[in-house]
Amino acid sequence: MSIEIDVLNGDASWPRAEPLMQAVWPAHVVEKLSWGHVKWAHADLRVLIDAPEDAAQPGLACHVGIFFRDATWDGRKVHIGGVGGVSTRPDCRGRGYASLALNAAIRTMRDHEAVRFAMLFCEPHNEAFYQARGWQRFLGEVYAEQPEGRVRFEAMAPFVFDFTRKPRDGIIDLCGLPW
Ligand SMILES: CC(C)(COP(=O)(O)OP(=O)(O)OC[C@H]1O[C@@H](n2cnc3c(N)ncnc32)[C@H](O)[C@@H]1OP(=O)(O)O)[C@@H](O)C(=O)NCCC(=O)NCCS
Repeated sequence: MSIEIDVLNGDASWPRAEPLMQAVWPAHVVEKLSWGHVKWAHADLRVLIDAPEDAAQPGLACHVGIFFRDATWDGRKVHIGGVGGVSTRPDCRGRGYASLALNAAIRTMRDHEAVRFAMLFCEPHNEAFYQARGWQRFLGEVYAEQPEGRVRFEAMAPFVFDFTRKPRDGIIDLCGLPW
């Protein structure tokens, strides 16, 4: 059975993504989490995979948001990619959908030649998932914009996926909202 993977404009595809995102991260749950206060960027692109025909319900099975950003690393401008909002509907987990969608996100970011590396931020219980898929811990400091101004971003652990640069340390400023 073939699996169709769409990579679509982030704003235009939000109505398709929203029900899955709200189901995986309901507002009343998120607001009680340590990162519930964070203001996040909107995805530039979204990888979307629909549920298979034999699923109990139709609709979206998996989502990965893709971000592009002119950031800085140790004060030097660097164009980076980002991944966020990785989620698979509970009844569709363990079928490789998130792995497929992450691979599609990496291919898409690699196609943007100026992207030097990709970043994501995750909670401790998901670190092994990303490490098993080639993401490496970034041990330096990350800064981002929030409504109150520029802040050190420590809500979640930063991970990087190497393209032409391999950042492990130093200071990365996202120069905008985190994802
Ligand atoms: C994490 C998540 C996206 C994985 O989606 P998925 O479609 O089931 O992922 P895949 O099928 O591609 O991969 C599943 C594999 O990863 C493993 N895995 C899943 N979550 C894991 C975790 N937190 N840590 C380590 N391994 C994990 C599974 O055991 C499985 O391993 P296997 O292939 O050896 O059987 C999904 O569980 C989810 O939506 N979780 C809630 C939202 C969330 O936490 N998202 C991450 C935000 S940073």
